[in-house]
Amino acid sequence: MDANQRKLHFHRVARVYDCTRDTDRSIINYLGGVFSKKTSPQHPVPDLATGTARYPLALASTFGIHFIGVDENASMLAVARRKAKKLKAALAIVQGDCLFLDGTLDAYRPFSFATMFNALHHFSNIPSIAYAIQSQLRPESGRCYFYTRVDNDNAETIWGKYFPGFVEREKHYLEESSFPRSRLMLELCQGGLAVQEWVRFVVLAEHTLDELLEKVRARHFSTFCAYTPDELEDALAVFSDRIQHAFPEARNDPSYRIPYSSPMTLVVCTPR
Ligand SMILES: C[S@@+](CC[C@H](N)C(=O)[O-])C[C@H]1O[C@@H](n2cnc3c(N)ncnc32)[C@H](O)[C@@H]1O
Repeated sequence: MDANQRKLHFHRVARVYDCTRDTDRSIINYLGGVFSKKTSPQHPVPDLATGTARYPLALASTFGIHFIGVDENASMLAVARRKAKKLKAALAIVQGDCLFLDGTLDAYRPFSFATMFNALHHFSNIPSIAYAIQSQLRPESGRCYFYTRVDNDNAETIWGKYFPGFVEREKHYLEESSFPRSRLMLELCQGGLAVQEWVRFVVLAEHTLDELLEKVRARHFSTFCAYTPDELEDALAVFSDRIQHAFPEARNDPSYRIPYSSPMTLVVCTPR
């Protein structure tokens, strides 16, 4: 997916994006503990590639953390703005390219913290995004938190296990299905960020089969855009069969909620 396709994709999905994504409470609680009492309107946390600001808004409303959400996509940010207004949450919003942050956030830098959720794989050049971020952080003590998938994470999701071709078609992560840990570490390092810690999370969710099929049809992961409409319908049929085989309760009861887990990894970095 090139930059234009990506912009078009997020413009198309902006309105339904939040309904089709599961927001993970465990990472919100974890980062709430890390940032608590360490932010203010003058010292916010930039959330890079914030989209509809799901995570900063949850952290703002639960823990009172102050954020600036940065994203290139006006449609995603329009949803974020509406939600922030409704919640009266401490969220400033800036439209811009995270690869070229200079000037965008100057009034607040250097930052003690920065975050990026579910978006690192949209940057094909990891040293460039690492470089852009490290130059915003406090040189000694600044920390950046990337919430993403590494190693075998994608293959262990419900899509990786049961959706035909999902792992093979997901090539956003340095052309792999999830970031190879050693290569990610090397490329972040080339851009000036040293990995300090890998923290594992397991996101638990449950949905009916219809809800899962609806997520795919809404292309809730951009990976599903890599199928032609016919391929997607064929894959959905195989996915339904596999799910009904693995969860026989879903065969007779459309309201049965299929429990599943998705592994995620928080990559904690400091400037080198
Ligand atoms: C999968 S969404 C993740 C949104 C949000 N972080 C979340 O977890 O819900 C990826 C986001 O990255 C944004 N994005 C991708 N490349 C970007 C860039 N170079 N600069 C700013 N935003 C970018 C897209 O516009 C999109 O909103």
